[in-house]
Amino acid sequence: MKILGLESSCDESAAAVLDSDQGLLAHAVFSQIELHRLYGGVVPELAARDHIRRLLPLLRGVLADAGIAAQQLDGIAYTAGPGLVGALLTGAALGRSLAFALGIPALGVHHLEGHLLAPLLEPDPPPFPHIALLVSGGHTMLIEVQGIGAYRLLGQTRDDAAGEAFDKTAKLLGLPYPGGPELARIAAAGRAGAFVFPRPMLDRPGLEFSFSGLKTAVMHAVRDRVLDDALRADVARGVQEAIVECLCVKALRALEATDCEVLTVSGGVGANLQLRETLSRLLAARGGRAYYPRPEFCTDNAAMIAVAGLARLRAGQHDDLAIGAHAQWALDSLPAL
Ligand code: KG4
Ligand code: ZN
Repeated sequence: MKILGLESSCDESAAAVLDSDQGLLAHAVFSQIELHRLYGGVVPELAARDHIRRLLPLLRGVLADAGIAAQQLDGIAYTAGPGLVGALLTGAALGRSLAFALGIPALGVHHLEGHLLAPLLEPDPPPFPHIALLVSGGHTMLIEVQGIGAYRLLGQTRDDAAGEAFDKTAKLLGLPYPGGPELARIAAAGRAGAFVFPRPMLDRPGLEFSFSGLKTAVMHAVRDRVLDDALRADVARGVQEAIVECLCVKALRALEATDCEVLTVSGGVGANLQLRETLSRLLAARGGRAYYPRPEFCTDNAAMIAVAGLARLRAGQHDDLAIGAHAQWALDSLPAL
């Protein structure tokens, strides 16, 4: 089967072609970062309008790169939620209509299932069952993954997501939007131990996270001080260490609680090098292993949507003719395969 994947849930427009035998044939992402930078965050209406401009050229581009015509597609998978509803509707309308015109099935894919299955795009994919640490701009979750569609939420954040914590503290440091990757970049020059920020929830049992207090702690740390590059780097290092430690401690706890030694890490924060290195080291010390998508498949992309879509379309699942988009959508409401 050849599947077209489309992603438009937030500020990345993306398309990909995945073949069930040959793997990923082509993928492309257009990031709207420049468009939203002026506002310091994603403006939903601008995002939706820009997806309309970008999606069709991206789609034509990946078909050309894959060397196939639209008529050779066997199905279309588009992100149907959760996300910005206007943005979602652009990809949903395009995917659903094109599938109708081509006479092939279409399926609305859950964006988080895409992130969860992104590690399957790699040549050495993780076995099932495993524990997934899903860390993005909107979510921080530990999930027991028994198989595709068999997800049990073990714990999540009570307030801000890990990516949000990176972005908000970066903003306080005056770093350019989006702050997460930039904060990680400058943290490399920071001194260890110059700032030690709180690690909420670590002293309590359970698998929940809380990151909202980090903003206040950073605000206090930089108040009445000259924010030069050295101070920025020290604070950035302290922030990254606090977030990474919270994620690692809870991920290990989840593995222990489920007697599992396989961890996957996905979502935008999964691109963070310190997180990847720390988890790999901790897992190796236990005789386990951590699996990651390549960094470009940690952040939003259509290849992951095509992976989830291919698995479900192959199993005979597809949507009716309605164009579906859900701002909220519970992961555990998905049917198992
Ligand atoms: O998965 P994603 O692309 O979009 C959502 O579905 O939310 O994640 C975006 C988030 C942003 O908060 C961004 O700052 C963060 O991932 N991020 C990073 C890094 N790269 C992206 N955070 C820390 N270190 C990075 N290298
Ligand atoms: Zn995402």
